[in-house]
Formats: sequence, structure tokens, C-alpha cells
Amino acid sequence: MKTYFKIIVLFISLQITAQQGGMWIPSLLEGMNEKEMKSLGSNLSAKDIYDVNESSLKDAIVHFNGGCTAEIISDSGLLLTNHHCGYGAIQSHSSLNNDYLKDGFWSNTNAEELPNPGMFITLIDRIEDVSSQALKHVNDKMTAKERQSTIDKNIAKIEKEAHIESWQEAKVKSFYKGNQYFLFVTVTYNDIRLVGTPPSSIGKFGSDTDNWMWPRHTGDFSLFRIYADKNNMPAAYSKDNVPYKPKHFLPISLDGVAVDDFTLVFGFPGRTDEYLPAVAIDQIVHTLNPAKIEIRENALKIMDGYMRANDQIKIQYASKYASIANYWKKWIGENQGIEKSKAIAQKQQLETEFAQKSNDKSSQALLTKFDHLYNEVEDVALARAYWVEVVYQNIGLLRASIYLSQFENKITKDPKSLNAEREKLTKRLEALYKNYNKEVDQAVFEKLIQLYANKNPEAYTINTVKNKDLSVLTQQIYQQSKLTSFSSSKDLITGSKGEILEKLHQDPGYSLGKDFSDMYYNTINPKYNQIQLEIKANQAHYMKALIATFPKKRFFPDANSTLRITYGKVKGYHPRDAVYYSPVSYLSGVMEKYKPGDYEFDVPQRLIDLYKSKDYGPYADQGKMPVNFIGTNHTTGGNSGSPVIDAHGNLIGLNFDRVWEGTMSDYNYDPDICRNIMVDARYILFIIDKFADNQRLIDELKLVHPKSKK
Ligand code: ARG
Ligand code: ASP
Repeated sequence: MKTYFKIIVLFISLQITAQQGGMWIPSLLEGMNEKEMKSLGSNLSAKDIYDVNESSLKDAIVHFNGGCTAEIISDSGLLLTNHHCGYGAIQSHSSLNNDYLKDGFWSNTNAEELPNPGMFITLIDRIEDVSSQALKHVNDKMTAKERQSTIDKNIAKIEKEAHIESWQEAKVKSFYKGNQYFLFVTVTYNDIRLVGTPPSSIGKFGSDTDNWMWPRHTGDFSLFRIYADKNNMPAAYSKDNVPYKPKHFLPISLDGVAVDDFTLVFGFPGRTDEYLPAVAIDQIVHTLNPAKIEIRENALKIMDGYMRANDQIKIQYASKYASIANYWKKWIGENQGIEKSKAIAQKQQLETEFAQKSNDKSSQALLTKFDHLYNEVEDVALARAYWVEVVYQNIGLLRASIYLSQFENKITKDPKSLNAEREKLTKRLEALYKNYNKEVDQAVFEKLIQLYANKNPEAYTINTVKNKDLSVLTQQIYQQSKLTSFSSSKDLITGSKGEILEKLHQDPGYSLGKDFSDMYYNTINPKYNQIQLEIKANQAHYMKALIATFPKKRFFPDANSTLRITYGKVKGYHPRDAVYYSPVSYLSGVMEKYKPGDYEFDVPQRLIDLYKSKDYGPYADQGKMPVNFIGTNHTTGGNSGSPVIDAHGNLIGLNFDRVWEGTMSDYNYDPDICRNIMVDARYILFIIDKFADNQRLIDELKLVHPKSKK
């Protein structure tokens, strides 16, 4: 296996091109990537980026709370990540009197930093190739099920037998669709405190209107700190904990960026699918995305109406609205990008070449099998999408009913767990109802249940909604169910197990949820998983065959929430004919967008004053204050908060988004049009120094001038 991949890497390295894209494994950069980075202007060696024995850039990169990325920027464990990654924590510290979302928050001493129960960060100690152990006893004659269970057993053994310290964890992850496996040894810290954040009018400037868009003007950053025990080891929160001493932290460059400068983005991309067959992309674009877009569009329209009419609802639904809108907007851009870049035709072309070139019956058989499998999965995949969107994502009452039916299953199986499960459920319900409004939920329900009844595949639709007057059903449920507030939902789970079950089964909201739950867990999920297992096995063979058939082509492993690097250049793009977007935005652009009092485009008075007096300190670029810039780095969800690093290993920016025309990069990265969006590090420094006037944080940083030194 190993030599097999080495040969591929060698082949690729023979034809270094200006081609870009790919999210690469940090422990495998020697050869092709190192050379390619040099050709783009980097001075970094593979070992500067990743080294097991010496400290390297990787020691400054952390997986932030399981979803985002953050980086260490001082020798006292100071962390930089996005405002939208810290949003939940910032919101949880906010009240009407201390509204940190609205006003920002800046600690003046370590003691003022705010603890965040439940928050954690993970550092990578080392990465090891364990492909041969993971694939032991695996052969091509196995069924999909046999193959998977053999691999699962091997992985469990590798993780169990890994040589790790008591404070470390070992986890094996699959790469190249199950053709390569790596072991990750990690350390997790749990005492993470909020250090500072700008107000939303900077950190979320432009909000949903500007989301996924260039030109952009958002100061999307926030600061946290890792705390450790006195031996620098992970420890639960304690006031005696001290700032973590990192193996490495990133200096920050004051020299900024220019067009064509090398950029390296180092972080934890979540998920991409670059090697799907054409038939799968077709299904996403023409079946799954349109259904999901339609559901969310309807839900958002209703929520927006209520939010505009009522300030209380506006606050309650702000975060929910933003997260529903985020992927709604992404899917629309994705579909447009796939159409425009003719991604489906491109994949078909590749498949035709693949079948011809490999000149092997089994290659054609792989493609034919994909056709069958995607045809077979279509209805159940669509039903799954409807279920997730209608039942789980967009209707509070139904989501609550699913929590309750999970609770019923647990206490039925294990009656002794009643009190513990009740306590957990109470917390979940409290969180759900904190931002719940019965009227809004009912309106969304009525609309979405109609969509569901009309469009969800018949075989996977619950009988309760078939041939019914759904307005009447909606009214009945919202009048009679106790699942319309936290306090009444709590009534349902008081008393003994017998009493609880009786109350639940009489509640019409719960009964409906139970029907949905049974449909999902007894029918949709088993069927979907069974076909997915076959797809996964076919995908593994296809990936291997693709690499063997096109030895000169560039194959990088799909994102899987593990540490990766991606690199490119600062570069503009042509979104459409005769239009060119240059790659840097400035504070003057913030002022162009300024709409006093608007919830998306208001600007704090202090920032206006600084703009008028041009009081930019050492952070300006020829008298102008840079805000955001774009580049050709291949990123995805999870890369938010990733550092953007220059040719010398210094921080120059903070990744937070992608451009609208390029959101299809998760399926089809196209270097002509795919761009990531970053905050300029100088804007972050300017906000901390001039806007927040927080000298203690500036003093903690290492500011450097790599360009002037040359
Ligand atoms: N689109 C970015 C990402 O996928 C930023 C989302 C946060 N901002 C927002 N306005 N919802 O996460
Ligand atoms: N905004 C995304 C994130 O939160 C990044 C992206 O999808 O480009 O990770």
C-alpha cells in the first residue's frame, strides 16, 4: 500500500504544475507539496510545517470545539478563531445588561477571562500511516459488509494498542475512500476562556446578506485562551489553572499581503466529496438540494416575517435563522456553480476516459454499479433529507418530540436510568425552548407539513398526514399538545415511568413525533445505511482504480475533519463576463455599506471616528486600512478560524468563508473561480489596539516585519 502511494506521489512530483487545490496531509508533504509550495513562493520546508521531534507550525493549530479551527498566537495559550465560531459562547455570556454580542467584550486581566463549560480544544501530537494494519485480511472478493467489519475490527485493535500516554487519545481515520488509514494521537484541553470579541457590527458585519459573498468587509474574529494545570497538562476548569505554554505559537506579520503572495491555510476541513460519480452529483443538484432549499426557503420566509414584526422574536430567532440561512444560501450557490462549471459533464467525460483507458470490464462494472445504486438510493435519500429538514431542523415541536421518543426508548430499555435521562432531557428541552415561539413554530409547521405530505416519497411518508386536512391537524396539535413550551413539556416527564408513558401516548404532538421517529429508525435509516454501505465499498474500488488509471492526475484525499494544509495565492477572479473582483477590501468599503440602525450594516461610532481621523497606527497599507482578502486556497466548512500563514510561517490572516461562485468546491474545486475569504491580520490588530484600546493583548503578541527584513 505504502509503496503504491509513494509511486503516485512520485509521478505527480514529476509534473509540478501551477495547478492548485487539494487538502493535504501534513505528515506527507515532502516531495510534491514541498516543491509546489516553493514554486508558489514559500520558504517553508515540510518539516517547518509538521515535525514529530521538533516544534513545528502544527503545534500552534487546534481543533476548536469539534467544529472550527483556532490557532495559538502567544506563549500564554492565546487563541484566535472566528467570531462565528465563538458565537455560541459569546451569546451564552450575554444578557440585556451585558450584551457582548451587541457591544463586544474585552478582558483587561487574565482573571476577567470568562470560562465556557463544555468547550474544548484538541491538539495533534502525531500522525501515523496505519494503512497496512487497517487493511489486513481485506480482499476484493469480500462483500461490502465483510469488508467494513474487517476494517472496523482492525481499527479498533490499532486504537487499543497504540502507544500513547495516559492524557492522549488515539483515533484512526479513513482517507482516499478507505484506501489509506492514518492514526491521530491527540490531546484535549477543557478549560477554554473567552478573552475578547468585537461587537457583532464588526464580527458579523454584513450578516446574511453578505454571507458567502465577495466583496466582503467582516472582522470575523474572537479571542480565547487555553488553560492548563500547573504542569501544563489538561485539567477541568479550576481558578488555579494557568495559561497553557505551547510548543509553538504564530508570530503575526505587520507587512500584510499583496496580489500573488503565497498563502498557506492550516486547519480542520470537515467534509468534501471530490470523487463522486456524475450520477451522484446529478442527484445532489437535481433532487436533494432543490428539496432542501425549498423547505428552508419556506421556513425562513415565515421566520423573517415574524422577526421583522417583533423585536423579542428577532432576538430569539437570530441564531437559528442564521444557521438555517447559512446552508440554504450555500446550496443555492453550489447548484449554480455546478451548472456553470459543467461539473456533471466533466465527471461524465472523466468516466468515459476511465472506462476506455483502463480497458477493463471491471471498470465499466464499477460505473454501472454506481448507476444502479444511486438509482436505488434516490427515494430513501430524499426521504431522509425531508425528515432531517422538516422534523429535526426547522420545527421545534417535532424536534422536541424526537428527543422525547429517544427518552422513551431509553427508559423502556433501562428503567433504572429514568432520573439521569430525565435530567439530560430537561436540559435539552430547556435549550430548545429558550429560543422558541409557539406562533412562529405553528406557522412553519403548517407550511412544511404540507410540503412533506405533497412531496416526500410516498413509501416513506407517515400515514398520519395522508389525505388529511393539514390545517386542522396543525390547529389540533398546537392547541392540545404540551410540546409548545418548556414548562408544559416538563409536565409530560414528571412522575413514574408508567405515568410518563401514559401522558406521552395521550399527547397528539408526541404521537405524531413518534410516527415520524418510527418511520425514520425502522424504515428510512436501515434502508439508507444498507445502500450506503454498498456505495462506500464501490467508491473504495473506484478510487483505487482511478488512481491506477490516471497516474499523472492530481488526487488529494477528501476532507474528513482531520488536520490538513491547503495553499495558494492571493488572487482576484472573474465572477462573470467583463467583471473582475480584486482581492483586497478596505475600511472605506465598510463605510460604503454603512446603513445607520440597520441590523446587518450598522457601524459602531468609534469605528467611524477612527476611519475619519485615519488613526490606523502601524496597521495601514499605504494609508488605507485593509479588511478582508481572498485567495486560491481550497477550504471547506471546518476551516473557519484557520490561520493564513505567509511564506515564512507568520500569521497574515484568518480564514472564515468562501465566495458565492465557488461554493461548489466541495464537489468540484475549480481554481479559476473558487476563492476562500480571510480577515487581514492587520485589521484584527487594529480592532484590538485602536478600537478596543486593549494594550495588554497587543503586548502579548509577537509582531514581525518579514518583508522589510529580506
Ligand atoms: N458562511 C460561513 C460558514 O459557512 C460563515 C457563516 C457565519 N455567518 C453567517 N452570517 N451566518 O460558516
Ligand atoms: N464558513 C465556513 C466554516 O464555518 C468555512 C467555509 O465553508 O468556507 O467553517
